[in-house]
Amino acid sequence: MKMNLRHGSSFDDIICQGIMDLALDDPAITDPETQSSIEHQNRFRLPKLGGRRLIASIDRKDVAFVDYVIAKQHIKYLFVHPKYQRKGIGAKLLNLAQEQIKDAISVNVLCINERAVLWYLGRGFKVSNCWLERFNGGKTAWLKLTRANVTPQSRRPSK
Ligand SMILES: CC(C)(COP(=O)(O)OP(=O)(O)OC[C@H]1O[C@@H](n2cnc3c(N)ncnc32)[C@H](O)[C@@H]1OP(=O)(O)O)[C@@H](O)C(=O)NCCC(=O)NCCS
Repeated sequence: MKMNLRHGSSFDDIICQGIMDLALDDPAITDPETQSSIEHQNRFRLPKLGGRRLIASIDRKDVAFVDYVIAKQHIKYLFVHPKYQRKGIGAKLLNLAQEQIKDAISVNVLCINERAVLWYLGRGFKVSNCWLERFNGGKTAWLKLTRANVTPQSRRPSK
């Protein structure tokens, strides 16, 4: 499997929105109040790209992207097409974004997205904040996860 990387722009919004929709089409990510898949709600729409974007492709098909803001040391979005998950693509994009940021990074994740929370915790992120926000008409808990600057140890702590 050969992965290619390229810098993306707002011209890639439709592609990235498609990857995001598929990645979030997961019955495990449900709203605790409505128990409906967030797929059916008026949820994430990619806002105007206010930072940088890296896109990963396999066999010329765009399959994953990361949006990040260097000045805020923040990962805005990181999504991998479901068919291409568990191949190391997410970890690669995450580490590349942190290499560009050259410092600690943070990401905001919905508490109910346990799989993603566990994924980040497994890569050296720690919970640095949590809060309630109105989201899709209800109160939703969010976590801010933060990782210190990348070292071989912080990329993948030993179990
Ligand atoms: C969370 C997410 C970004 C992770 O991306 P990914 O590409 O699937 O992640 P990786 O492949 O790097 O790591 C996933 C697992 O695959 C394993 N893996 C890595 N390379 C592998 C390979 N070549 N073969 C098999 N497994 C592999 C890793 O060990 C890891 O296991 P772990 O989570 O138990 O530690 C992605 O699954 C996703 O988009 N999820 C849905 C959307 C979401 O929730 N995003 C976060 C909100 S910001």
